[in-house]
Amino acid sequence: SAYDAGEHESYMRKEILEQPTTAQAVLRGRLDERFGTAHLGGLDMDARDLRAVRRVKILGCGSAYYVGQMGAALIEELARIPADAEAASEFRYRDPVIEPDTLYVAVSQSGETIDTLLAVQEIRRKGGRCVGLVNVVGSAIARECDGGIYLHAGPEVAVASTKALTNMFLGFALLALQLGRVRDLSIADGKRLVAGLERLPGQIEEVLAAEADLVDVAKELAEARSLFFIGRVRGFPVAREGAQKFKEISYRHAEAYQTSELKHGPLALIDPEVPTVALVPSDELTERNIGALHEIDARQGPLVVITHEDVDLGEIGARRIVVPRNEPELDPILLTIPLQLLAYHAAQHLGHDIDKPRNLAKSVTVE
Ligand code: AGP
Repeated sequence: SAYDAGEHESYMRKEILEQPTTAQAVLRGRLDERFGTAHLGGLDMDARDLRAVRRVKILGCGSAYYVGQMGAALIEELARIPADAEAASEFRYRDPVIEPDTLYVAVSQSGETIDTLLAVQEIRRKGGRCVGLVNVVGSAIARECDGGIYLHAGPEVAVASTKALTNMFLGFALLALQLGRVRDLSIADGKRLVAGLERLPGQIEEVLAAEADLVDVAKELAEARSLFFIGRVRGFPVAREGAQKFKEISYRHAEAYQTSELKHGPLALIDPEVPTVALVPSDELTERNIGALHEIDARQGPLVVITHEDVDLGEIGARRIVVPRNEPELDPILLTIPLQLLAYHAAQHLGHDIDKPRNLAKSVTVE
C-alpha cells in the first residue's frame, strides 16, 4: 500500500518517530510571530465571535478525552475562559445544558467515533456551536461540526494513538492562543508561546533520540502486574494518557492518579511490587511532587520519574527520565512522549501485537 510500516517493526513505532514532522504540519501557516497569535481560518469565527465565548466544553473519547483535558487547561490558562473536558460517551446521557455562549469542541483522530459524533449532533440540535479538532479530512465529525482545525498528522494506523494526540495538543495550543489574543493575553506572552511552539518539533526529536535509555525501564515496568501513573494539575492528564497507552498495548493494570490524592487512599497499595511512573516537571509544584515521591520511596515503591534537568530528586531512589523544557504551558506534550515509548517497549518486550491490541478497534463506530 502507499502507506506501510516500511522498515519499522510496527506502525506504532513509525508513528511515534514521525512526530517531529507531523507536529510541524499542524503548526504550518498558522503561527503569527509578529502579533504573537495563531490564525485558524477553518474555525470560521471572527474576533467578535471569539470574544463572545464565555465557556469552552471539550468532548472526546479515550485518549482524545485526556488530551481534551490538557487542552482545557491551556484554554483556561491562556485565554482565561473557564474550560473543561468531558467523555463524549457520557455527555449525552446526563441531559447536558447547551448554552449559546459556550464553544463546544469535538476532538477525534478518526472523525468517526460514534459517541463523539452523537454528542456533536445533540449540541447542534439544541443550537450550540461545535467546532472540530479532527485528523481525518471529510470524516463524519468534521462534516457535522460548524468548522474546525484539521490536525494534518497523516494516516494513523496503530490502534494506540500517538502522533494524532500530539497534534490535538498543538491544535488546542493554537486555539488557546487565538482565543487569548483577542482577550487579555499580552503580546509578550503570545510571542513567548509562538516561539515555544516553534521549538517543540525539535524538542520532540530530542526526546525520541534518547529512546535507547528507556528500553530497560520499560522492560522492568512490563514485569509488574499493576502500576501507577501520577501527576498534578498539568501533569494529571499526561498521567491518564500514559496509563491508557500502557493498558492498551501491555495489558497491564495501570492506574492514573493525582499525585496529591495518593495519600487519601491508594498509598495503601504501594509496595516493592507496584511501580509508579511520576510526572515531575520543573514548576511551582515540584517540591510538593517530591514530597509525594518520598512517601512512595519510604514504602519501597519502585519509581520512574519523568522530569526536567534542574529537578533534584536528592536521596530518592528513582529511574530518572529527563525531557527538555519548553514554556510551562507547553511542557505536557514533551512529558507525554516518553510515556509512549515506555508503553511501546513494554509491549514489545511482552511480545504483544502492538498495532492491533486484543479487544480494541481503531475507531469505535457502534454504540
Ligand atoms: C487511543 O490510544 C485509543 N485507541 C482510543 O482511546 C482513542 O483515542 C479513542 O477511541 C478515540 O478515537 P478517535 O480519536 O478516533 O475519536
